[in-house]
Amino acid sequence: KRVILIGPPGSGKGTQSPVIKDEYCLCHLATGDMLRAAVAAKTPLGIKAKEAMDKGELVSDDLVVGIIDEAMKKPSCKKGFILDGFPRTVVQAEKLDEMLGRQGTKIDKVLNFAIDDAILEERITGRWIHPSSGRTYHTKFAPPKVDLVDDVTGEPLIQRKDDTAAVLKSRLEAFHRQTEPVIDYYAKKGAVANVHAEKPPKDVSAEVEKALSS
Ligand code: AP5
Ligand code: ZN
Repeated sequence: KRVILIGPPGSGKGTQSPVIKDEYCLCHLATGDMLRAAVAAKTPLGIKAKEAMDKGELVSDDLVVGIIDEAMKKPSCKKGFILDGFPRTVVQAEKLDEMLGRQGTKIDKVLNFAIDDAILEERITGRWIHPSSGRTYHTKFAPPKVDLVDDVTGEPLIQRKDDTAAVLKSRLEAFHRQTEPVIDYYAKKGAVANVHAEKPPKDVSAEVEKALSS
């Protein structure tokens, strides 16, 4: 399957990705994770992306389209993929369609993680991540077995620099202004399935599986 996850910051895209990956797809491409890795490694791409990310604004379309174009060349992405956090603008969606068109494929499903903005601050400010694996925890909703260390490796967890209430405001603004039109773009193609992202993770997983099996 070729699946896109769209939803505001903290709606659960990263949390649900492993569930989908194990069941249907071979490849999980999260532009946010890839950009954070580039920032940490101080690559030319990371240096260009950092300022926008710290402010909660979108990185330029050219940069992220380039990342996805490169990543999709991996053999494991040929049979299926989950795009988490891409496309985030209509221009990105059009470029993606062009890329897939060249391969004679198209998107099967767009999962719209629908959720009220008011719930997101608590989710974002309580999030802790294990950077090398991408495993995500929450102090209240998904606590690690031992305080602030990863369950599997025992390594320390960190908070993302953009996970503050102030930066969340800009991220939400960017979502409503630039990314919501992408949902309409795919709705016109009949590809969108809505998920009740405010429910507990297990219930969200069940909805995701139902949407993907149809
Ligand atoms: P990105 O990394 O994509 O961040 P985001 O879209 O803001 O999404 P998040 O990762 O914050 O949320 P999520 O939905 O994955 O939530 P999670 O599952 O972790 O992008 C970061 C930045 O990179 C952007 O601001 C931009 O600058 C740049 N960027 C990236 N892609 C780009 C693009 N295509 N174009 C331009 N710029 C781009 O869950 C959050 C927390 O809640 C966790 O602690 C989790 O444990 C908990 N939780 C999850 N589900 C539930 C539940 N059902 N109930 C209770 N708690 C839950
Ligand atoms: Zn995420």
